[in-house]
Amino acid sequence: MRGYYTRLDKSRPVLDLGIGQGRNAFFLARNGYSVEGVDLSEVAISIVTAAVENEALSVKAHRCAFEDFRSENEHFSGVLILGLIQILTWESITRLVSRVDKWTEPGSLLFATAFTTDDPMYQKCLQEHQTIGRNSFIDENGIVYNFLEPGELLKLFPDCEVIHFWEGMGPWHRHGGSEPERHGRAEAVLRK
Ligand SMILES: C[S@@+](CC[C@H](N)C(=O)[O-])C[C@H]1O[C@@H](n2cnc3c(N)ncnc32)[C@H](O)[C@@H]1O
Repeated sequence: MRGYYTRLDKSRPVLDLGIGQGRNAFFLARNGYSVEGVDLSEVAISIVTAAVENEALSVKAHRCAFEDFRSENEHFSGVLILGLIQILTWESITRLVSRVDKWTEPGSLLFATAFTTDDPMYQKCLQEHQTIGRNSFIDENGIVYNFLEPGELLKLFPDCEVIHFWEGMGPWHRHGGSEPERHGRAEAVLRK
């Protein structure tokens, strides 16, 4: 999906929702883009802030939920929604879609990923976790798991032009010392 970043308009910033430790924002900033990032996590924002100061990157990080983010920029050239949808409830996804609409204008690009019902975690969630919505679950620690059905990522943004769309099984990977895993993934690059 990264191959599409050159289509972003450099004259306006990119918004990274759920910036995490900044890997996507840093990639864009190192390639000459300004980025604003939002994340709930204090740890994530402090890691991003430290790296930004170190490398003098054009990344402004805000610690807040995307629902509470108030932007000084009227519109962004693009919005990154990477690794976020799969941990949101349907209520939050509905709010996300409406905020993204507000923060973008015709021509803005959306980069979005989600987990799908092909993810092995989906079967585990069905058996082990509490259902809180359609294909949506919560575990005993309050962690939300949301899985989209085939084609559903595109249906969240029905008025956008599809530049790139892919669904399938992602690469095998490990988190720290955990067992190898792979996810059922959907990814899209869309133009409003
Ligand atoms: C799986 S990480 C993805 C990080 C990054 N986008 C990436 O692809 O590497 C999801 C991030 O979203 C953040 N997050 C979860 N809910 C959020 C919300 N409502 N508003 C803003 N950030 C949120 C989490 O704190 C976490 O850092």
